[in-house]
Amino acid sequence: MVTFARLIPAAFLLGAVALGGLRAAEPDNHSPDIPEAVRPMMADPDLAQSDFIENCAGCHGLRGTTVPAHLPEIKDRVGWFMCTPESRAYLLRLPNVAHSRITDNAQLADLMNYVVFVLGGKSVPVGTKPFTGSEVAHERQFPLTSVSLKAERLRLANVAIAKCRAPTSLRLQYPGSPQ
Ligand code: HEC
Repeated sequence: MVTFARLIPAAFLLGAVALGGLRAAEPDNHSPDIPEAVRPMMADPDLAQSDFIENCAGCHGLRGTTVPAHLPEIKDRVGWFMCTPESRAYLLRLPNVAHSRITDNAQLADLMNYVVFVLGGKSVPVGTKPFTGSEVAHERQFPLTSVSLKAERLRLANVAIAKCRAPTSLRLQYPGSPQ
């Protein structure tokens, strides 16, 4: 028989679980703090963050994750693409980046450094140098097409897995994704 006395702790427990759930979901509603250690990677970290919010977060989410939507998760993963010069270039050759309406290359480099060093978190290989305006100016001349994009991403993910010990789930859109 379930007594009233036994139900009280159960109700408390349920309340705590519900609260815990709320707490866990809450940070996704706002941008992450920019860690002091990565601020020097950007000339203007706050502008880089607002540029991301304005130009990219509508699709990618404020924290770089929109799971289970069918697009690659940036949060804690995008940094692996800094593994080789080719895979760094991939990030700048993405159509939404290369064709960005931000025409100032140094400003776009800052935005991409925000993406890599803030949203990418611990996925960035040690010793990675930030993007520069001239690197952006060069690579954005060679935007990937939607045809080449998928194959190129897979190829470069495999290089990052082999060379930089990226997790094999980098081949997927997000860990556990069906594709
Ligand atoms: C209209 C929606 C949309 C917007 C806006 C957008 N993206 Fe994307 N992004 C995508 C999709 C979809 C993909 C998957 C590849 C593709 O189809 O382009 C992607 C891929 C990426 C990737 C590759 C991640 C990986 O793991 O391969 C990065 C990085 C990225 N976007 C960054 C950005 C940045 C930075 C901006 C803003 C300048 C931006 N995106 C704006 C939809 C968008």
